Amino acid sequence: MPVAPPRERFLELLRAAVMEGTLAKLTLGKPSGPDPTLRNLFARPVELRDGARVSLTWRHTTREVTRNLPPPEAADLLAGLLGKEFLDAHLFSATGHHQFETNPGGRPRLRSLPARPGLPAPALGQHDRPKDHVLPGSTPWLQDLGVTNPDGHPRAGMAGKLSQIQHFAALLQPLLRTAFPRENAREPAGKVLEVIDAGSGKGYLTFALAQLLSPGFRVRGLEARPDLVAFCNQVAERHGLRDRLTFAAGRLDPAREESCDLLIALHACDTATDDALALGIRAGARLLVVAPCCQHELRPALAAPLGLEPVWRHGIFRERHAEFATDALRALLLEWAGYATQVAEFTGAEHTAKNLLLSGLRQRHPGDAGKADAVREFAAVYGIRTQALARHLGFDLTAISAAPL
Ligand SMILES: C[S@@+](CC[C@H](N)C(=O)[O-])C[C@H]1O[C@@H](n2cnc3c(N)ncnc32)[C@H](O)[C@@H]1O
Repeated sequence: MPVAPPRERFLELLRAAVMEGTLAKLTLGKPSGPDPTLRNLFARPVELRDGARVSLTWRHTTREVTRNLPPPEAADLLAGLLGKEFLDAHLFSATGHHQFETNPGGRPRLRSLPARPGLPAPALGQHDRPKDHVLPGSTPWLQDLGVTNPDGHPRAGMAGKLSQIQHFAALLQPLLRTAFPRENAREPAGKVLEVIDAGSGKGYLTFALAQLLSPGFRVRGLEARPDLVAFCNQVAERHGLRDRLTFAAGRLDPAREESCDLLIALHACDTATDDALALGIRAGARLLVVAPCCQHELRPALAAPLGLEPVWRHGIFRERHAEFATDALRALLLEWAGYATQVAEFTGAEHTAKNLLLSGLRQRHPGDAGKADAVREFAAVYGIRTQALARHLGFDLTAISAAPL
């Protein structure tokens, strides 16, 4: 039997994934249409009030446009774009990872890898659906914060933000259940539990926290910009949340005594993440959750690990290593400080490159010598002599550990 051309085979796989509800995600790239600002088109399944839809996001240089279409309509539209407006496509579905490529002058190619751990699993899209309901788009404060329209759909350019907030809420729930089992079951906790959102910005995730947590928690957003603080306090007031959700202006000060049982810091810039972690550790917070971003501090000082010297001249590799080294060092320092850590992907990489969620659950007292060695050994790989969180914790990265007796 003759084999169908690559484009047709890819479209068949795509249509099956969209129609059978096994699509995890699709990315179209290499735009070749008339719009020079267009970069990508992303597709993922969503469950809306009207039923299953495929959420399509066109990413342009400075804006995003999202449309949610019924699966047959989405499949037709995507089929019309592939190989014409976009030359490349990556499809993740129940059948695996399929990559379609068209090179100008060359022949189209289709490469497929079977589904395996490490690739976005087809179940991801399915699992996303109930999670999305943790904070539906119709949540009233989401409209006041400019994320959704009154119909619950994201405003133009805000689909990624809504998805981020919903993923955050879904990821946080199991962590909260583990860290605060009694309080989450809404048993009287005896004392008000203090939550700090460090670098709360426009308050998207601070409001989400206040909604997820029972009234036994008091949530505070700490934010350097007074205008954002005033805005968030107004919205909290309007929604009758002021008794358990407040925002305060000022810079984070890890040396200040704060009462904090749960610390979050999402995309707090550069070393503000370290300030936040130090603040939480110092307060003995039960749970720390951070999504780091712009890890600039270590980059200029990072040495090439053994064997990587030949590629170290490439700035992008050094950049990626700086991100990894910063966050891995933070995770090891948290372990030393008595926290069991987890690292997860925050949300789809198509929504933000700042995609890592690092959490720490308090277990024991700090100071485990084995953990200290692990921190120093890791720091030595990259020649790291000092780092913000280590300084806050008074941890000397260069100290030589005593040899075991
Ligand atoms: C990228 S925004 C993230 C906002 C919010 N956490 C979110 O994820 O939507 C970072 C925010 O942290 C604030 N920020 C950065 N450094 C800070 C510091 N040292 N103290 C207080 N706020 C800080 C900035 O003003 C900004 O609003």
